[in-house]
Amino acid sequence: MSTRCKTAILISGSGTNLQAFIDAVAEGRLSLELAVVVSNNPDAFGLVRARNAGIPTACIEHGHFSSRDSFDCAVANKLDEWRPDLLILAGFMRILSAGFVERYRGRVLNIHPALLPAYPGLNTHQRVLDAGEKWHGSTVHFVTEELDGGPRILQGRLPVVAGESASQLQARVQALEHQIYPEAAGWVGEGRVEYRDGRAWIDGVAADDPIVQTFDLSGKRM
Ligand code: GRF
Repeated sequence: MSTRCKTAILISGSGTNLQAFIDAVAEGRLSLELAVVVSNNPDAFGLVRARNAGIPTACIEHGHFSSRDSFDCAVANKLDEWRPDLLILAGFMRILSAGFVERYRGRVLNIHPALLPAYPGLNTHQRVLDAGEKWHGSTVHFVTEELDGGPRILQGRLPVVAGESASQLQARVQALEHQIYPEAAGWVGEGRVEYRDGRAWIDGVAADDPIVQTFDLSGKRM
């Protein structure tokens, strides 16, 4: 992939991860071309963030489609107008169909707020607290047909603080995401990380485990 890899970001909500990409590019820390932001939700604040940054936007409302496949097809057709090299799912709250995954195989990244393979699915922060886990975090991974199950690239982890609420934990995890997601996407953009034969290859080596970065209580990478 080129160092100015053409990138589409898919969102559904507030878009704080999108903002982290916008800031990283603006500050010269990330050399992706943010070509378009696509939302399935017309009220997503991320659309405002994109417009403020001068990035083209598109909204395709899933409620206007009778099936997942027809919605995904409309999203893919819209994306193809921009011919993106890389798709970034940043709080995109739709499960992608097998056809969509196949069309962009190896070119779609997601961030999931848990230390995958632990805690796939929703409501991760509360589930982690309920289980009394000592560590929590977030994982950047390639998207495959298996929900939250594709090859992992980079994990950020932090210690769980006794007595903290799910929303406090979520805020700390999100702050960590804003550091690891642009970084991992940058690695893919520059070809340091690639998807081959169903695996993530990091620096030319098939990686069974992601790179793990540990963050301290103040949110700094250790
Ligand atoms: C993030 O916490 C991410 O882990 C999950 O969705 C959330 C999106 O948040 N996939 P935002 O819209 O980027 O603020």
